[in-house]
Amino acid sequence: MRGKLVVGNWKMNGGLASNARLLDRLASGWQALSGREISVCVPFPYLGQAQAALSGTPVAWGAQDVSAHAAGAYTGEVAGPMLAEYGCRHVIVGHSERRQFHGETDAAVAAKAAQALKAGLTPVVCVGETLAERESASTAAVVARQFDVVASALRNDLSRVVLAYEPVWAIGTGRTASPEQAQEVHSMLRRALERHDAGGVQVLYGGSVKAANAGALFAMADVDGGLVGGASLDAEEFLAIAHA
Ligand code: PGA
Repeated sequence: MRGKLVVGNWKMNGGLASNARLLDRLASGWQALSGREISVCVPFPYLGQAQAALSGTPVAWGAQDVSAHAAGAYTGEVAGPMLAEYGCRHVIVGHSERRQFHGETDAAVAAKAAQALKAGLTPVVCVGETLAERESASTAAVVARQFDVVASALRNDLSRVVLAYEPVWAIGTGRTASPEQAQEVHSMLRRALERHDAGGVQVLYGGSVKAANAGALFAMADVDGGLVGGASLDAEEFLAIAHA
């Protein structure tokens, strides 16, 4: 039985004072979660702050990217073992904003997922189609290609990841995929995972998830929770999503 997981993606938002309020509220608000797993992926400089605020609570934390290399002359990069030292459980890998604005290829995403696993972190591997791809009926082909590159790179370790289906047209737009649209892609991913003996992998939905739509999305058979951007910056909204 796959449990439900809700991961917050703060993106490039926050500041010490506002983070402190948000993290304090999460640290005190988790009791109402009835077994749901939650995690917040914060900008690198705030990992220590998240660790200090959330240690000893069931709320996990993590980062939004990791280097495809283990160490060395890669200026500006952050390696998996560094994230592990800050107690990270999750790291988002292959977010569409990284693919779109930082040129991350499927192969780079797979290499990052492998480095995360090597460091003992759980990569949250994002896949999803653009609006143009959906409108040209290539959703299944795009998502399958993104998935296949990661699956063949990770092989037996595929069972240790979390997947996130994030249709690019739904991210930060207020335009959520309908529960049925999400389920269609999630069930395709579920079948692909099963073919790789990784049927226990959680598949999260991301893209304009809010407390108002989370219940209907999470009720779908193959939706195991959410990857939440904007709404994760509001503690009450985020906790309400986690509770949905
Ligand atoms: P959003 O972002 O919830 O603000 O749409 C989701 C994401 O990018 O992970």
